[in-house]
Amino acid sequence: MAILELYTYPHKVLTKKCEEVEIVDDEVRKFLDDMLETMYHDKGVGLAAPQVGVSKRIIVIDDKVGENGEPGPHPIYMVNPKIIKKSDDMILFNEGCLSVPGQSAEVERHRAVSVEYLDYNGKKQVLDAEEFLAVIIQHETDHLDGVLYIDRISRLKRNMIIKKLSKS
Ligand code: NI
Repeated sequence: MAILELYTYPHKVLTKKCEEVEIVDDEVRKFLDDMLETMYHDKGVGLAAPQVGVSKRIIVIDDKVGENGEPGPHPIYMVNPKIIKKSDDMILFNEGCLSVPGQSAEVERHRAVSVEYLDYNGKKQVLDAEEFLAVIIQHETDHLDGVLYIDRISRLKRNMIIKKLSKS
């Protein structure tokens, strides 16, 4: 396994719509392993392929990760994830992103979602998620469409974050 290089705002790869994966083969599985290791290394709860410079519809998630990046019991690998159901009720959640280092802001998200995807073995799965896990899924699938959480907050807050980023 390997730790991959993280791409941060305003790199262009983060604004591109990613391509679907045709088949989950050993090459994709190796990439999933590397993504997960990178996510733990950088103490994230989710990571999307464009964040490591790969414009493919692949994400990894661990909503039970420890404070120092200790792996939870059930990391989730998602290839070609697609949100197929969203709750009408919304929640506000304070989000950060490894591609927007050191910053965070409250973002409005659907409280619950159902997501369809291919798992580590290429098998089709459907996951119903609520609250924190649902928020991570929405944040990471956004990445696959070239959308960052700072694109979902007010222009004022967005500009403040961008200003702070350029100074750090
Ligand atoms: Ni992110």
